[in-house]
Amino acid sequence: MPGSARAEGATAPENECVRCHLEQEEEDENLAKPPKEWRQSIHHENSIMCNDCHGGSPIGKDEEEAHDEEDAEFIGAPADDDIPGVCGECHIAVHENYMKSKHWLTKKEKRPVCTTCHGAHLIKEATLDLINEKTCSECHKYERSKRIKVAMTATEDKLLALENRIHLLKSEGMDVRSLDQTHFAQRNLFHRLSHILDLDEVIRIAETVGKDTELLSNKIGEQEGVLSRRRLAGGVLTAFLLLGALGMHFARKSLGE
Ligand code: HEC
Ligand code: HEC
Ligand code: HEC
Ligand code: HEC
Ligand code: HEC
Repeated sequence: MPGSARAEGATAPENECVRCHLEQEEEDENLAKPPKEWRQSIHHENSIMCNDCHGGSPIGKDEEEAHDEEDAEFIGAPADDDIPGVCGECHIAVHENYMKSKHWLTKKEKRPVCTTCHGAHLIKEATLDLINEKTCSECHKYERSKRIKVAMTATEDKLLALENRIHLLKSEGMDVRSLDQTHFAQRNLFHRLSHILDLDEVIRIAETVGKDTELLSNKIGEQEGVLSRRRLAGGVLTAFLLLGALGMHFARKSLGE
C-alpha cells in the first residue's frame, strides 16, 4: 500500500489544500466540506491526502500553484467514469474485481461507482452494511442485493469465528502462521465477491469457502487439542511440584522436631 510508507503516527497530516479549503467555509461551504469529512476518514488516518486523489501541489500557497494542471497534474473533481481509475491506483485488487461487475459493464447510464457506495471523503472501514436498502434500491430492486448480503454475512460470521479462535491460540504462544495464511486466503477469495456482485457466484463460492472453513476449523481444533494437553501437562507438573514442596515442608518439620 502506498500509504503505509508515510504513516505519520498520531499527528494529523495537513497541507495547503486542507488549509485553504477550510478557509473557504464562508465563501462556499462545499469547498470546506471535503476536508472536514476527510478528517474523519480512514484515509486521513493513513495519511492519504487530497492530492493523492486530485493531484495538484500540496505546498502551493495560492490556487494557481496548488491547482496546477501541467506540472502538478491537478485533475479537479473526477467525473464518475474516471473515479474507479483514481481509486484503483491504490486499491488494485478491488479495482480489478469491480471491472468484472455488471455495475461497470452495464450499458445503462446510471451505474454505481466507488463513491456511490463508499462516499468520496467520509470513507470508513468497509463492512457488509454498505449493502443496504437505501443504497441498493436507488436504481433496482433490493431483493437480489439482500440475498447476496444474507449469503455473505453467514460466511463472514464463520470466518470471523475462526479468526477469533486463531487469535486465541496465538495469544497462548502457539505457532499459527499457516492457519493465518489459510484464513487470509479464504477471506480474500470471499471478499472479492463484494465487488463482482454476482449472486450465482456468491452462492457457489459461499459453498466452497464453507467447506474450506470446516477443514480449517478442524486444523484449528487440532492445535487447540495440543494446547489443552499442554495445559493439562502443565497443571499436572504444577500439582506435582506443589506436592513436592509440601512434602519437603513436612519432612523438614518432622526432622526439626
Ligand atoms: C489558496 C486556496 C486553495 C488551495 C491552496 C487549494 N484550493 Fe482547491 N479550490 C479553491 C477554490 C477557491 C476552489 C473553487 C474555485 C475553483 O474551482 O477554482 C477550489 C476548487 C477545488 C476543487 C473542485 C474543482 C472542481 O472541478 O469542481 C478541487 C477538487 C480542489 N479544489 C482540490 C484541491 C487540492 C487537491 C488542493 C491541493 C493540492 C487544493 N485544492 C488547493 C481553493 C484552493
Ligand atoms: C480518496 C480520494 C479523495 C481524497 C483523499 C479527497 N478527495 Fe475530494 N473528491 C474525490 C472524488 C472522487 C470527488 C468527486 C465527487 C464525488 O463523487 O463526490 C471529489 C470531489 C471534491 C470536490 C468537489 C466538491 C464535491 O464535494 O464534490 C472538492 C472541492 C474536493 N473533492 C476537495 C478535496 C480536498 C480539499 C481534499 C483533502 C482534504 C480531498 N478532496 C480529498 C476524491 C477524494
Ligand atoms: C455497489 C457498492 C460498491 C461499489 C460500487 C464499490 N464498493 Fe467497495 N465495498 C463494498 C462493500 C459492500 C464492501 C465490504 C465488503 C466486505 O466486507 O466483504 C466493500 C469493500 C471495499 C474495500 C475493503 C476491501 C477489503 O478487502 O476489506 C475497499 C478498499 C473498497 N471496497 C474500495 C472500493 C473501490 C476502490 C471501488 C471502485 C473501484 C469500490 N470499492 C466500489 C461496496 C462497494
Ligand atoms: C493513494 C492511495 C489511495 C487512493 C488513491 C485511495 N485509497 Fe482508499 N485506502 C488507502 C489506504 C492506504 C487505506 C488504509 C489501509 C487499507 O485499509 O487498505 C485505504 C482504505 C480504504 C477503505 C477502507 C478499507 C478497509 O479495510 O475497510 C476504503 C473503503 C477505501 N480506501 C476506498 C477508497 C475509494 C472509494 C477511493 C477513491 C475515491 C480510494 N480509496 C482511493 C489508499 C488509497
Ligand atoms: C446508481 C445505480 C445503482 C445503484 C446505486 C446500485 N446498482 Fe446494482 N445495478 C445497477 C445497474 C445499472 C445494473 C446492471 C443492470 C443491467 O445492465 O441490466 C446493476 C446490476 C446489479 C446486479 C447484477 C444483476 C442482478 O440482478 O443479479 C447486482 C447483484 C447488483 N446490481 C447489486 C447491487 C447492490 C448490492 C447495490 C448496493 C450496494 C447496488 N446494486 C446499487 C445500478 C445500480
